[in-house]
Amino acid sequence: MTTVAHIAGIGSYLPERILTNADLENMVETSDEWIIARTGISERRIAEEGQATSDLAAIAASRALDNAELTPADIDLLIVGTSSPDMIFPATACLVQNRLGMTCPAYDLNAACTGFIFGMHSGVSAIESGRARRVLVAGADALTRHIDFTDRATCVLFGDAAGAVVLERSDEPGVMGIVLGTDGSGADLLKIPGGGSAMPATHSLLDSRLHYVRMNGNEVFRFAVNAIPTATRQALEASGLELGDLDWLVPHQANQRILNTVGQRLGIPSDRVFSHVHDTGNTSAASIPLALDDLYTSGRIANGDILALVGFGAGLTWGAAVVRWTKATQSKEG
Ligand code: UT7
Repeated sequence: MTTVAHIAGIGSYLPERILTNADLENMVETSDEWIIARTGISERRIAEEGQATSDLAAIAASRALDNAELTPADIDLLIVGTSSPDMIFPATACLVQNRLGMTCPAYDLNAACTGFIFGMHSGVSAIESGRARRVLVAGADALTRHIDFTDRATCVLFGDAAGAVVLERSDEPGVMGIVLGTDGSGADLLKIPGGGSAMPATHSLLDSRLHYVRMNGNEVFRFAVNAIPTATRQALEASGLELGDLDWLVPHQANQRILNTVGQRLGIPSDRVFSHVHDTGNTSAASIPLALDDLYTSGRIANGDILALVGFGAGLTWGAAVVRWTKATQSKEG
């Protein structure tokens, strides 16, 4: 497929409130040593009371617009990847659209932690078809709202955040190969069982804590360390590129051990596998644009660099996008 879209702007937002491993030691039977050794996570951010996913997404989206030097009126389509919407409906994207004073169509897309890559796929497709010139794609989650803070197996992992990019029609190669995958047979491995149409909210559902995230961590780990390398290779092949062409692997930030394993499996040096999971935890659909914005604002990517953005998550879902970076290096002071 001829490349017609590039990333014209990027922005992200991390809530102020920090939850450290020491804080968690006072809440559940865990230790800083265990969390660091098994996940690499040291702290994560928690949305303030009253701060919902749309609030996080609106800030990130507004920053992406500023970075692209565009206004809300320049955007033809807004997509928000999230699995922790403000409400079951309306879509969180509608709330973001209103907050930013946009008038374009806006919808949510739920591919859990892979939501941003699925959103990029939809955004690029809209541009390629000629139906849109510029698409704002956000990944935003306040997943800690759905975490059981008495369950040590999950409560140490997640944090809240949002990230966004402006995709724009372009002549130069930008977003290259994108691959997506789904295996619904793994739906039970990671889910929030209650609160939907299968198990509507009742007192007994709340008493059973079925409105919280349930996860088979070992199986999800096994899935992740296979899905990331496979998706990366497929997206590179779809782009006519090879592993040696990659400047950065930017994987979903879930667990440092997953990042180490996929780097080894792909033969990519650890200093080319981006990680800030230590400071953010797993921010679900926000994770990849947040990581990309960190790379960009810290001056570590330059115009022409080749990046593989790779996600995995509940569904099961996975996806990868190979991107040729088309923005100037951000000044380290900026
Ligand atoms: O976006 C996708 C999101 N999900 C993921 O990426 C999850 C992928 N999976 C993982 O990251 C890892 O499987 C975990 C970090 C969730 C768990 O690490 P693990 O090395 O697979 O540990 P485990 O589940 O096999 O548990 C080992 C032990 C157990 O104790 P016993 O049965 O050996 O006595 C757990 O009860 O560690 C215990 N444990 C803890 N201990 C202290 C589990 N959580 C904790 C904890 N603190 N927070």
